[in-house]
Amino acid sequence: MSIEIDHLGIAVTSLEGAMAFYEAQLGLSVTHRETVEGERVRVAMLPASDTPDGPRLELLEATGPDSTVARFIEKRGPGLHHLALRVDDLVQTVERLRAQGSQVLHEPQRGADGHLYVFVHPSSTGGMLLELIQKEENKIAE
Ligand code: CO
Repeated sequence: MSIEIDHLGIAVTSLEGAMAFYEAQLGLSVTHRETVEGERVRVAMLPASDTPDGPRLELLEATGPDSTVARFIEKRGPGLHHLALRVDDLVQTVERLRAQGSQVLHEPQRGADGHLYVFVHPSSTGGMLLELIQKEENKIAE
């Protein structure tokens, strides 16, 4: 079993403003942008490593006041929103977590690029919203 950091999700009030820092000042590059309508969030991904599968930064901007990112910022201010770890077998990991009483927030879902993911409640993880992602090469068949 291997676990790797996939990305750190950062809640920002302005994607353009945050990109001005991470791109123009820090020298990272946005490789992917998308609007996830279901979660009312605009996303920009920036690899933070030279390794192809290395960790990334995920900048998150709410598209409306009912977005979970908007509610997070209202409650706690902008900043680190979640940690995303890649696991070998998401379904098995979720079963194991649930069996031991951890609060998995939903059934494994497919992200825009086909990967599987779930979120685990901060009360189970030491205070950090945790996203678990299944590696592409281990995608389960439909
Ligand atoms: Co994420």
